[in-house]
Amino acid sequence: MKVIVVKTYDEMSREAFSVMKEVVTANPRAVLGLATGSTPIGLYQNMIADHEKNGTSYRGISTVNLDEYAGLDVTSDQSYIYFMRHNLFDHIDVKPENTHIENGKAADRQAECDRYNALLEELPRDIQVLGIGSNGHIAFNEPGTPFGSVTHIVDLTESTIKDNSRMFASIDEVPRQAFTMGLKNIMNAKKILILANGANKAKAVYGLVRGEVTEKVPASILQLHPDCTLICDEAAASLL
Ligand code: F6R
Repeated sequence: MKVIVVKTYDEMSREAFSVMKEVVTANPRAVLGLATGSTPIGLYQNMIADHEKNGTSYRGISTVNLDEYAGLDVTSDQSYIYFMRHNLFDHIDVKPENTHIENGKAADRQAECDRYNALLEELPRDIQVLGIGSNGHIAFNEPGTPFGSVTHIVDLTESTIKDNSRMFASIDEVPRQAFTMGLKNIMNAKKILILANGANKAKAVYGLVRGEVTEKVPASILQLHPDCTLICDEAAASLL
């Protein structure tokens, strides 16, 4: 794993953007695996600024997102599709029909997982962007998730519900379940770019880079990926 330690969140976002720009420039029809959460917002802001200033186009690009809360409608401002539109898609020229995410409202949840797995086979990702949970989760793959997992429904752990409650009016509003790509799906991306900032990620980052490769720390599987780059700030790198 390539590890790049920078001083600030802004620097992390700029470094991440330079990796992303290389992928988009090399292949204007690239498939980008994207994440939600606080961590990649700066990366998305850099992509928007570059699109506006330099005209970098996403017309041929497709995107697939990692995960979506179960039960939330696309119109809910807490849904991950809302997040993606608000923080990226509405500000670049990606075609809406080329942006993909699990349907949180699907009536048949297993059929939705099957649909998404088939889609991921059809759209091999050139890059997968990841954040990391303070418990070492990636996407919503919580500790104990099998390394061979594909898209599935998960019960969120108390620690993830607590971490994510900052985005909701109260902790009771945080959905208890989500759709998520599995660890096997994530590993299938050609390139992985994982970002981490802040002291609350230090333990997880240690597990990601130096810990034992174990299902107890889902991110540790990335040690087995042939092209994985971690960009993190000094606080997140403090235990390395
Ligand atoms: C988001 C996702 C999550 C987050 C992780 C970190 O799509 O899959 O795994 O990447 O929970 O969240 P933040 O960036 O908010 O600290």
